[in-house]
Amino acid sequence: MFDLDRFIVECRTAMSLDPTDKSIREIVARAVSDPTAVIAGLGAPTRAEVQKLYHSPELTVLNVVWGAGMTIMPHNHLMWAVIGIYTGREDNIFWRRLSEGNGCRIEAARAKSLGAGDVEPVGRDIIHTVTNPLARLTGAIHVYGGDFFAAARSEWDPETLLERPFDMEKNLQMFEQANRIL
Ligand SMILES: [Fe+2]
Repeated sequence: MFDLDRFIVECRTAMSLDPTDKSIREIVARAVSDPTAVIAGLGAPTRAEVQKLYHSPELTVLNVVWGAGMTIMPHNHLMWAVIGIYTGREDNIFWRRLSEGNGCRIEAARAKSLGAGDVEPVGRDIIHTVTNPLARLTGAIHVYGGDFFAAARSEWDPETLLERPFDMEKNLQMFEQANRIL
């Protein structure tokens, strides 16, 4: 079975030896290679939420449960991340900054659909959108190489695609909104 305490210790140890995401990728890949074990360890998702599993200035581990059909607007992290899906699907759009203007506008660059067992490293400056395309919850382990909740980062208006400061409270509220829709 997936052992959360052991997973956190493995991530912390890996980070102390190498602060890049390389070894974290392997740890997350091993965990989500057995999605049933992750669900047995974390519990089956019951509601959309961002569950904090571990949080320090160097490392954040989240259990992110996306509501049915939920989309989060384009955003960056300003720290590396590793996403591992254990149930459902995350459709990612990756964006790039447009060079014209003052560089605060973005355009879609590529897309990647992730299913259970898939692991995706997300670079420090990557801008992405996540959609759960399913009519049920999607669950993923997200590991970040820093303090996910403290970083002063950006989001992009989904209509105008213009940059603005990331609003953590509003984004967390979107998960609660998804629960009310269900
Ligand atoms: Fe993200």
